[in-house]
Amino acid sequence: MSELRIAGGKKLFGKISVSGAKNAILPILGAAAATDGKVTIYNCPDITDVYTSAEIIKELGGNVLFEDGIMYIDSMGINKTSISANTASKMRSSITFCGGLLGRFKEVSFPIPGGCVLGDRPIDLHIDGFKALSAEVFSDESGFTAKGRLKGTDIHLRYPSVGATQNIMTAACFADGKTVIYNPSKEPETKDLADFLNMCGAKINTKSDKIEVEGVGNLSGCFYSVIPDRIEAGTYLFAAAMTGGKITLEGITATELGEVYNVLLKAGCELKSSENSITLKSSGILSPIDKITVSPYPGFPTDLQPQLTSLLSLAKGKSIIEETVFNGRNRHINELNKMGANISEDSSFIINGVPSLHGAEAQCHDLRGGAALTIAALAAKGTSIIKDPEYIFRGYENFVEKLKSLGADIEYYS
Ligand code: EPZ
Repeated sequence: MSELRIAGGKKLFGKISVSGAKNAILPILGAAAATDGKVTIYNCPDITDVYTSAEIIKELGGNVLFEDGIMYIDSMGINKTSISANTASKMRSSITFCGGLLGRFKEVSFPIPGGCVLGDRPIDLHIDGFKALSAEVFSDESGFTAKGRLKGTDIHLRYPSVGATQNIMTAACFADGKTVIYNPSKEPETKDLADFLNMCGAKINTKSDKIEVEGVGNLSGCFYSVIPDRIEAGTYLFAAAMTGGKITLEGITATELGEVYNVLLKAGCELKSSENSITLKSSGILSPIDKITVSPYPGFPTDLQPQLTSLLSLAKGKSIIEETVFNGRNRHINELNKMGANISEDSSFIINGVPSLHGAEAQCHDLRGGAALTIAALAAKGTSIIKDPEYIFRGYENFVEKLKSLGADIEYYS
């Protein structure tokens, strides 16, 4: 059984750089399979999910080379349109290959995706979007097949799903005519995908309440660099807020952190931002936040909810977090309580801050929950064992090394 062993109670000091965004690179790799050329992507994070996406591209007949943070993709040889259950089971976001494959080859087959268990994760918005674009879709409990020549149309999303927006937007590049997606995802990673597609010859216009796509029929290769990872950045800032200390993150700005920056201020941290970095200083004494509601961008991101739960477990008072995006993103609660946190759950998480956490053995159940347990262990008094940390390595480049460089006493045993 693999584990992280952490001797907590050490303040974090130092400077680290923010990696390329996991939730930008993954849909971009999915869309790269829709181009009929060569794609070079800079600032590609060295994380497990990137290797899974590369495996899918090779399975489809493409070629990839990943070295020194640069991903080289040759999609010309892609000649398959079905994704295997084996690779799809490793990563939910493998579904974002579908829009591009459907557009480029007029068909795609996809099994029900796997990935982190965060509660219900239906794919109805993806399928409804493909149907709205005139694809014929056959689906059953094992997965779906979509096929046909796509026609542009107006699509009103009942929920601003990130993945569904990205799939529909990519497929619409190949549709006859114009597509307008109303109530789309506004996440920066969706905008990054649109910018990537436009570099490949797409005609996408992202507005505040809709995304307009003119069908262009095909996409060529390009050179691109992904945006920094705001979730990774928030995770390290939360860690320093909890342990106390002073850290600087290079390659991220307050604007890119958005609501997360405001929450850190409310929690009592001192923040300074320049045009390309953020410095956080914390005494380790944290203020509670009466109520925070997790919501789609520009709201507080669900991907930092577990880490915020850890942070508020040490605040001086009661906080409430309402998670409105994933109804099952709560498996870190019991694990945090094993470390002495006092968190209960009804329709929200009620967090009664405690003076300190203590070391314990805790189990990772998913990527962000694992990160939340790690930052709690860094602040806890004593030694903690975090089981199955490979979940964390799916989305955090050089996770252990970056924390060590900030002074953490952390070791990984595979
Ligand atoms: C993306 O997942 C991210 N993954 C998630 O990050 C992130 O938590 C999520 O967006 C929300 O921001 C990637 O970008 C690779 P959704 P996605 O479709 O696209 C419901 C991480 O830790 N829904 O916006 O799957 C769904 O049940 C990961 O980095 C439908 O009802 O998220 C959920 O309640 C975890 N029908 C809500 O929408 C659908 O067809 C949000 O899902 C699709 C989604």
